[in-house]
Amino acid sequence: MPKFRRYSLLATLLLLLVGASGCQSTGATQPERSGIAGTVRTTKPIVIAHRGASAYLPEHTLAAKALAHGQGADFIEQDVVLTRDGVPIVLHDIHLESTTDVAERYPDRAREDGHFYAIDFDLQEVRSLWAHERRNADGTAVFPGRFPTESQLFRVPTLEEEIILIEGLNKARGQAAGLYIEMKGTAFHSKHGQDLPKAVVDVLEATGWSERTDLVFLQSFEPEALRYLRDELKTPLPLIQLIAENSWAEDGDVDYDHLRSDTGLDEISEYAQGIGPWMMQLYQGRDENGDAILTDLVERAQKRGLAVHPYTFRADALPPGVETFEELHRIFINDLGIDGIFSDFPDRTRQYVDTLTNP
Ligand code: G3P
Ligand code: CA
Repeated sequence: MPKFRRYSLLATLLLLLVGASGCQSTGATQPERSGIAGTVRTTKPIVIAHRGASAYLPEHTLAAKALAHGQGADFIEQDVVLTRDGVPIVLHDIHLESTTDVAERYPDRAREDGHFYAIDFDLQEVRSLWAHERRNADGTAVFPGRFPTESQLFRVPTLEEEIILIEGLNKARGQAAGLYIEMKGTAFHSKHGQDLPKAVVDVLEATGWSERTDLVFLQSFEPEALRYLRDELKTPLPLIQLIAENSWAEDGDVDYDHLRSDTGLDEISEYAQGIGPWMMQLYQGRDENGDAILTDLVERAQKRGLAVHPYTFRADALPPGVETFEELHRIFINDLGIDGIFSDFPDRTRQYVDTLTNP
């Protein structure tokens, strides 16, 4: 039996919004940006709430997004996949089982590989699932110190619902947070006859956000998806090329070592305004003297006008050689000079950024 009583989503949201509005907002101001024709680099790093305030509430739930807004995030991240009936939903994985109860609700709907693919479920079915804190395959919590994994409080939102929430909070709180949308598995969706970038752009158009170049980033690990957005869908929105490690086999045959090379960065500059590298591609531990080992990727990208937004800052999963969350910020902001941070703890990243004096 679940440990928690079931509440309606609306009641839960209202409770959490009251809590969020009670948070000490640090008064985040929108970054000064010059739009698509110019740079998206900013005087201070932007705070990107990674999957919402995901350190405190289950990732990609509306509650986590409301809390991130209350904590003063400049941008709130959405990972997006499609349902079988082609609706963009906010979900990190192309599978449902790590963050919902799909395996209990629809035990016969896994594919032969054991995964429950979101693209095999209609929106109405996805809407019926409980979304919960991320679990490992054995059912244990990925982050044991975070929100309990047994809760039955949250649902999987559509992209449109999330935009309506953020737009409403922007109005009600008088403080604008932007969207930072990642398309997950565009090539995978194509193989299933679905056009994920087009579906995302359609929602942005329907909600009035498709030309808000100061308030929307689009991001992808797949260069082809970004080139398609720029060249064929003609979006004016700033694009961010995410960079993984080749060993992760993140998205098919993309060569991320090449993307990090000078030639690769030149190519990215043709269609994107920035890169989103894994943090360990910028900071690689400490040498025998205890000094941080820093790469030149930030410098080489910024020289080409590309903003650098590394992922993911987690106070409960610090990289080797880093003792505190503040030290992590110091290395990346003060020493490396990055332009934005994907953080699971937007409140603490906001707090650090607000201590910085303008150059
Ligand atoms: O999109 C930036 C960062 O979120 C990439 O990693 O796996 O959390 O989507 P992931
Ligand atoms: Ca992401």
